[in-house]
Amino acid sequence: MRVLLTGGTGFIGSHTAVVLLEGGHDVFICDNLCNSQVSTLDAIEAICGRRPVFFEKDIRDKAAMRSILADNGIEAVVHFAGLKAVGESCAKPLEYYDNNVAGTVSLLQAMQDAGCRSMIFSSSSTVYGTPQKLPLTEDHPVGGVTNPYGRTKLVIESILSDLCAADKNFCAVCLRYFNPIGAHASGLIGENPNGIPNNLLPYVARVAAGLLKEVNVFGNDYPTPDGTGVRDYIHVMDLARGHVLALEYALKHPGWEAINLGTGQGYSVLEIIAAFEKACGKKIAYRIAPRRAGDIAANWADPSKALKLLGWKAELGLEEMCASAWNFQQMLQKKSN
Ligand code: NAD
Ligand code: WQD
Repeated sequence: MRVLLTGGTGFIGSHTAVVLLEGGHDVFICDNLCNSQVSTLDAIEAICGRRPVFFEKDIRDKAAMRSILADNGIEAVVHFAGLKAVGESCAKPLEYYDNNVAGTVSLLQAMQDAGCRSMIFSSSSTVYGTPQKLPLTEDHPVGGVTNPYGRTKLVIESILSDLCAADKNFCAVCLRYFNPIGAHASGLIGENPNGIPNNLLPYVARVAAGLLKEVNVFGNDYPTPDGTGVRDYIHVMDLARGHVLALEYALKHPGWEAINLGTGQGYSVLEIIAAFEKACGKKIAYRIAPRRAGDIAANWADPSKALKLLGWKAELGLEEMCASAWNFQQMLQKKSN
């Protein structure tokens, strides 16, 4: 396959690029580098001996996207590009709607012009809002999202559904990720957010590395076994593999699908801290802090649709997730010394 990854130098995109290249596919990346570095391309090449073709472009640049798609005979787009910080989306909603929603519409128009009719879209379990029942199946009602970031995902899913209704040859697979963590086993690529991390795993990794003092556990009075929030953490390499299978599926099945990518198993914040302690062999300091606004108590996936349609299921467990995240954190430290 000749595949374009928008946002392909980012966390999930770079891991997917590796799996696609290793599978013999031709990978093209378009990224404006607003949340990633061009050096990721060197890391990808070091891992798999092949380098994606790179375009430093914004997905909102329709003319550029049109020529990237047409000139390179792109068969499908995996659309990772987007802004993803929940708190920032509340402060700057218009930036989020412009980048994520308007950017996707512009990209879809460029695809239409270039005759490319397959998209795998990075959606999120956030579209389910507060779960009415667990595990979450894809037919669980969507909506009730508490922030603009989550609403951009909902709106884009609907745009893709409308497009598939209008163009019977278009395929759109919305992959609803649960909580992606971990890194490639080489430690050369992983998740390294700018500033103080919002997400739990990179925060815990920096406490383990001595870069932050302690983990703030946001609430221990949720109706969960130990009172802390429960999430379905999924290894980024499992997630990456899911995209390759989704691409193969999309090219054979026109129409719109939403598919959960999760393990089906939830872990609490305290369980994550304990698992990371085991991976790094150190105590991780934490304190109980107030609940974070907009958080839900628990969510985890029913991943059976992914198994049925794609033949995909998560293979890597929490131990591998924490060990690979710690390995990546140590590689970062080595580089900065
Ligand atoms: P990331 O920030 O590491 O990667 C996104 C990439 O998109 C970055 O490299 C950034 O530079 C690029 N980008 C942003 N806006 C762009 C634009 N207008 N034009 C071109 N490039 C642009 O994030 P990630 O964690 O790899 O997430 C990838 C996708 O998955 C995002 O759409 C995100 O919303 C979604 N998602 C992520 C998670 C998660 O927890 N990481 C969970 C659910 C969904
Ligand atoms: C996980 C758990 C926190 C940080 C978010 C987005 C979602 C998706 C993934 C994508 C929760 C607790 C966290 C900390 C803590 N995003 N926590 N201390 O909130 O499930 O999902 O990221 O693009 O759309 O909403 O992930 O990693 O922030 O939190 O106690 O310092 O850890 O309360 O229970 P979340 P998270």
